[in-house]
Amino acid sequence: MDKIQINGGCRLAGEVAVSGAKNAALPILVSSLLTEGACIYHNVPRLRDIESIKDLLSYLCADIETWDDTVRIAADGLCKTEAPYDLVRKMRASILVLGPLLARYKKARVSLPGGCAIGARPINLHLKGLAAMGARISLEHGYVEAEAEELTGDDICLDMPTVTGTENLMMAATLAKGTTILRNAAREPEIFALADALNQMGARIEGAGTSVLTIHGVEELHPAEITIMPDRIEAGTFMVAAAMTGGDIRLTRCEPAHLRSVISKLELTGARVETGVESIRVTGPERIASADIKTAPYPGFPTDMQAQFMVMMSVASGLSVITETIFENRFIHVSELRRLGANIRISGNSAIIQGAPSLSGAPVMATDLRASASLILGGLVAKGATIVDRVYHLDRGYDGIEKKFRKLGADIQRITR
Ligand code: EPU
Repeated sequence: MDKIQINGGCRLAGEVAVSGAKNAALPILVSSLLTEGACIYHNVPRLRDIESIKDLLSYLCADIETWDDTVRIAADGLCKTEAPYDLVRKMRASILVLGPLLARYKKARVSLPGGCAIGARPINLHLKGLAAMGARISLEHGYVEAEAEELTGDDICLDMPTVTGTENLMMAATLAKGTTILRNAAREPEIFALADALNQMGARIEGAGTSVLTIHGVEELHPAEITIMPDRIEAGTFMVAAAMTGGDIRLTRCEPAHLRSVISKLELTGARVETGVESIRVTGPERIASADIKTAPYPGFPTDMQAQFMVMMSVASGLSVITETIFENRFIHVSELRRLGANIRISGNSAIIQGAPSLSGAPVMATDLRASASLILGGLVAKGATIVDRVYHLDRGYDGIEKKFRKLGADIQRITR
């Protein structure tokens, strides 16, 4: 199993290009199931999660070719409509095949994803929405079994703005009979990107980016050529790295408008942020000032940036409170950050962090994707060596992170065995 070793204390400076967004690429690659013919995707990040979704689509008999950051997927002769446990358990986002399979092939059997490190993460809202569109759904032997001769549009109000739930229902509704209205829909930029991709395939989706989506069903979709949007969480992670190390990093190929809440919090910590058309430059302060954070659905502060901000607050000049409102167990990084010397106390869904002048390097263990990123950030500022174990979590969602950090001047290497 690979590890990452970091000798902390380097000020990071230079330029780094942001990769395509994992959480936009996953549903967009899956949307190829909705049509015959070959869809072409550019700017697809090189990640383990992308390999997992490609494995699942191949298992379903889609024909896939990859060259550089381009992927071609043709789901013409699909011969299976079942997503087995062994493929789904590797990545919860595999549940995204449920809506498209049901819409195009009238049936789907998808394994329930099972346990997750950051919370229970039920899929009841995906199922409730599909049932409202006429699907007969049962749970048998750990699988969701869904069938419908025809999906029909309905007026659906989600109990909460679930991201993959909105995506699943939006994809299913593109081929449903009549109009589907999705209320309290998620507003994340990745939802907008998926709606845009589906519209390029001939779908008729209105309101993407707002909490009410109107999807007029069409008879069929056609292939399209789509470029994946930049990864706002990868960008945010590098922005925190610049601030924490007192560095000066210019990010290119990114979308500043997607990062407004992150930028305003970073500015509170004393970092200077300058935005351009597709670029962001962050200059770190001499010492980070503390700031309170509360995660919320977009456009609020992203839960996927919570762990990275927590490690930054561990070296801030005062006390800060971070409140997690999306996932009930997303503080698993706290015990590992404590091993680096962070002073963090948990009270319910809040973490109270007393900043210290520095952290001290230690062996630590990655527990989930964003937790891993926080440990790398901790290692970058800690005194001495930090070894992060189980970095396969990191490889799920960061494209060549150690190479990018090395280019910025970090003393970081992957130890491969
Ligand atoms: N929820 C339900 N029922 C449902 C669906 C969701 O109760 O049917 C609850 C969840 O338990 C959670 C809340 O709703 O408390 C929000 O969860 P959501 O469904 O929005 O999360 P998700 O779609 O499973 C996506 C991202 C996550 C990101 C969250 C929140 C993808 C593939 N995953 O997950 O990304 O944290 O939205 O923004 O898009 C990551 O990249 O590290 C990651 C975990």
